Amino acid sequence: MKYNTYLSSKNEYSLSKYHNLANQLKADGHHVINLTTGDPIERTYPEAYKAMEESLTNRKISQYPSFKGKVSLRQSIADWAQRNHKIEFNPDTQVCSTNGSKEAVFHLALLFDWSEGQEIWAPSLSYPVYASSAGLFNIPFRELPVSRETNFLPDLDTISANDWHKCQMFWINSPHNPTSAIASKDYLQKLLKLAEQYDFLVCSDECYNDIFYKDLPSSILDFPESQNWLCIRSLSKRSHMTGFRSGALLSQNTELMKKILLMRPALGVGTPDFIQDAAIAAWNDDQHPKQFSEEYKIKQKIIREALESKGFEIFGGDASFYLWFSHPQFSSSEQLMELFIEQHLVLTPGTAFGKDGEGFIRMVYCSTLNQCEEIAKRIQSLNIKGPS
Ligand SMILES: Cc1ncc(COP(=O)(O)O)c(C=O)c1O
Repeated sequence: MKYNTYLSSKNEYSLSKYHNLANQLKADGHHVINLTTGDPIERTYPEAYKAMEESLTNRKISQYPSFKGKVSLRQSIADWAQRNHKIEFNPDTQVCSTNGSKEAVFHLALLFDWSEGQEIWAPSLSYPVYASSAGLFNIPFRELPVSRETNFLPDLDTISANDWHKCQMFWINSPHNPTSAIASKDYLQKLLKLAEQYDFLVCSDECYNDIFYKDLPSSILDFPESQNWLCIRSLSKRSHMTGFRSGALLSQNTELMKKILLMRPALGVGTPDFIQDAAIAAWNDDQHPKQFSEEYKIKQKIIREALESKGFEIFGGDASFYLWFSHPQFSSSEQLMELFIEQHLVLTPGTAFGKDGEGFIRMVYCSTLNQCEEIAKRIQSLNIKGPS
């Protein structure tokens, strides 16, 4: 047998390495706090469980779910978009349910013809699934350099017209995992102009947009006049529903959505009906993400103050539940990892997201308040001499 060559170039999904490390420390009897995964440990939106229980109680026969989501779910997603972003979607032709956003992110490349050498583009620091999708489907993948100087967003002005012609899918994720950077409305506008000029799709991965601490982050949904975007949303972070696996694809480009609806039946990704019912409850409520954001704001403050008192330089932090930081006394992510592991805090090295993450480290703070206080205490005990 001849295996997919991408699999031999990759031994391990990069983040799972650090999960294993956390498990090993735990097995050795340490009180480890694992801050590697954006998987909220506090209450899931309670009405979602209620709706699911009701849905299950009334059910006597289990049948295949609709792959694109039942009408009532698609309607609730369209209503949510209308209330929050003042944009109209036809729930029949412009909205599709997904099993969380990850599978949708992964499968999206199947939409296009890649035979003429077109490429998938993503920031050099990114959620790893953009690259693994391209790798497993054997599609050319281009990493666009990002740095603190570019606010961790690709510099659109440095790309030549020749290169723009090669782009077919452009991944943008704002608020950004891992850095929490936010693309401004002007940035998105400029990107969409380029997408129209060079005929590519802006794939806007927006799973963190509803967790924010200042202004509502700009969204691709704020550009109803453009046909060149697909918006990918999720209940995972917004409603603490990572275990439900529920998300949505939205676009006003009816031709694109037609192709998506043609592609997805083959994938076997219809969301079970009782989860769709839970999802409807979550999309119908705009208050709980605001409440969650209020709570995260307090947690972030506790941790941020501790980090700053030890001389860390923190970037972003106005949305999502990630802190991205560096320290003038430590040039490598590995060194930073070791520093935190001494206190049994397991973080994620910036390099897990791409080579431009060297010297940075990411901390997740979707923990309990008590745990955040404990994390702050351990940060105070880090072996650093104080502000430098
Ligand atoms: C940027 C980004 N996109 C997509 C996902 C997938 O989320 P889900 O499949 O739970 O919706 C994640 C999860 O951490 C993420 O960070």
